[in-house]
Amino acid sequence: MPDVIVGKAADFADPGRKVVDISGTEIGVFRLGDEFYAYHNICPHLDGPACQGKILPLATEAVCEDKSSTGRIYSKTQTNIICPWHGFEFDIRTGRHPTDGNVRLRPVPVSVRDGDVYVNVPVRN
Ligand code: FES
Repeated sequence: MPDVIVGKAADFADPGRKVVDISGTEIGVFRLGDEFYAYHNICPHLDGPACQGKILPLATEAVCEDKSSTGRIYSKTQTNIICPWHGFEFDIRTGRHPTDGNVRLRPVPVSVRDGDVYVNVPVRN
């Protein structure tokens, strides 16, 4: 399938996302800064609409030597998409789950040309 335009880069929030339907294939297109990423809107857990979840920084729990918590720490470098069905998280830059890199969203080629964002969806047979 040829590249399909999904919108103007400037119209995406940062961080932000748009979920599009291209000939029956749902694709989540994400913006982080000047970079764009795209994935099939199918969660590897139970096929939920992973790309439609909340966009949040990776959160980790800081634990003291006595095992008490000092609270959450929010990453300044990793932003995740959180599947709305059961909460699986995926790094928007890689599509991978933070603790199991084998669990990942299926990537879709995305490019920006002359201010427009394109995706290339493989033809289904
Ligand atoms: S379907 Fe996405 S976390 Fe279960």
